Amino acid sequence: MTMIGESTVRTDRDPAGQPPGVLVLCGSTRADGYTHALCQAARLAVECAGFRALVWDLGERPLPPADPAYHRDPSQHPDPVTRELVMLARESAGFLIASPIYHSSFSGVLKNALDSLSMTEFRGKPVGLMAHGHHLSAVQVCDQLRIVMRSLYALTVPEQIVTVPADYRKVADRQVLADQIAVARLASVVTAVTGLAVRAS
Ligand SMILES: Cc1cc2nc3c(=O)[nH]c(=O)nc-3n(C[C@H](O)[C@H](O)[C@H](O)COP(=O)(O)O)c2cc1C
Repeated sequence: MTMIGESTVRTDRDPAGQPPGVLVLCGSTRADGYTHALCQAARLAVECAGFRALVWDLGERPLPPADPAYHRDPSQHPDPVTRELVMLARESAGFLIASPIYHSSFSGVLKNALDSLSMTEFRGKPVGLMAHGHHLSAVQVCDQLRIVMRSLYALTVPEQIVTVPADYRKVADRQVLADQIAVARLASVVTAVTGLAVRAS
């Protein structure tokens, strides 16, 4: 372990010499949107904690409609992109799940991605929830995802982050999470997830 500031950086490696991985699932298809910016900030925070981070962008890497025929074992799904997500999820020690608020809930592409996965990928693993909207009413995304994650037997951490446009600054046509309170809140979500991922692994 190496100490940087107040955070503990995990340097333990898996048998292949890799640090544990956290999968960041981005439930927005808008590449220049706020939820993407939130996921990029989350990726950096995870890497600062000494974990590998991978952002799965459901706009860039869309999934076909979830097929209930593979509900029990989604690794048998005929679609190679779905199988890739399943294997990445299985290998991940934890998750960060993000969505914009759509009609008082999380996005349909995110629900489809979660329906393409199963308890096998999530059971006993820590999950942090992240949401974005015009207003803090986007907390509804987290409230509803908590219910969904329970049915997948994930360990959803109490910490969560909800952002609004004022938390971002535009840098070279991209939004960047800039508000210091929001950055600190994101760090608390990541610390909670990586801390549990360490214990679970
Ligand atoms: C289909 C749809 C439904 C939406 N529903 C809501 C809503 O219920 N409440 C709200 O505050 N914003 C709503 N919005 C606005 C989005 O949450 C907002 O534009 C957000 O910035 C989108 O995130 P993004 O920048 O990551 O794409 C909706 C947007 C869309 C496209």
